[in-house]
Amino acid sequence: MIPSDNYQPKRPRAAAVLSLIGNTPVVPLVFEQEGITIYAKCEFLNASGSIKDRLAKTVLVDAEQRGLLRPDSIILECTSGNTGIALSMLGAAMGYRVAILMSQGASQERRLLIKQLGAELILFESEGRYQTGIDMSREMAAKDSRYFLPRQFENELNVEDHEHGTGQELIRQVPGPIDAFVTGFGTGGTLAGVGKAIKTRYPHARIMAMEPAEAALLAGECPCCHMIEGVADGFIPPLLRNAPLDGEVKVTSADAMAMTKRLHREFGLLVGTSSGANLCAAIQLARELGPERRVATLLCDRAERYFSTKLFEAIAV
Ligand SMILES: Cc1ncc(COP(=O)(O)O)c(C=O)c1O
Repeated sequence: MIPSDNYQPKRPRAAAVLSLIGNTPVVPLVFEQEGITIYAKCEFLNASGSIKDRLAKTVLVDAEQRGLLRPDSIILECTSGNTGIALSMLGAAMGYRVAILMSQGASQERRLLIKQLGAELILFESEGRYQTGIDMSREMAAKDSRYFLPRQFENELNVEDHEHGTGQELIRQVPGPIDAFVTGFGTGGTLAGVGKAIKTRYPHARIMAMEPAEAALLAGECPCCHMIEGVADGFIPPLLRNAPLDGEVKVTSADAMAMTKRLHREFGLLVGTSSGANLCAAIQLARELGPERRVATLLCDRAERYFSTKLFEAIAV
């Protein structure tokens, strides 16, 4: 069940952080040189700094309401970072233990945040394969009934939440009909849910997936290395199967980095690499559709999560 805005958590102190998730602002980003305006939803302003706070809130509140979380429960999820940080934050506030499975390649800043929030971090060797961690979480849950699995890759609540939350907010906030929406995908929950909401309200709108050019799976290409963290984990996620997709827009890691730096230096928006990638894709679409059309996208997370990546490589302090 999608939580109502006035849900009273079992532990009253959790209400504070729960109230800081969702209802993020939409800002028009004016690219004067290009003569283009893109409507960007500021998901980096969620409490822990990313769009994944929404999924964490919805799944945990639903589980608490349905009595699936007990005082001795341990929330267990395999994630590349943002979901882990979001679950750890809510576990701390709601009073549940959290264990996060992450591949050994996960960045130091993500590991530190998870630990700082009091969660347990379990690192696994994966050579980039997500399935290793997902399988591990299933095996652990089969052996110990204290584990509660949010199952972000297959949980339909992930899609429903973005349809009724993020998507409806965007429809209310963009001034006039939305002609195109584009974003990347990890679990696919955001793209499927927001896409469904926009397509239902504006059937003419184009719903597009942003894909790293080096790993364009939906475009039928092989997964390989890209530097747009948080998206395209190497497989087409099941939640995208019924998504109303009209196509994909490819963005190179180099263009994504350059646009992210532009967002930092020309707009003062401290966002992560996938936000730059989403903007590149949105601008491509706006160019195709013409200046009168409204293109919307998402700024998914904060720049501070990328200190150890190429995004900050050339910065000397
Ligand atoms: C950093 C980041 N996290 C999460 C997401 C979306 O995740 P999901 O597909 O799991 O909803 C995106 C999408 O662009 C992203 O850039």
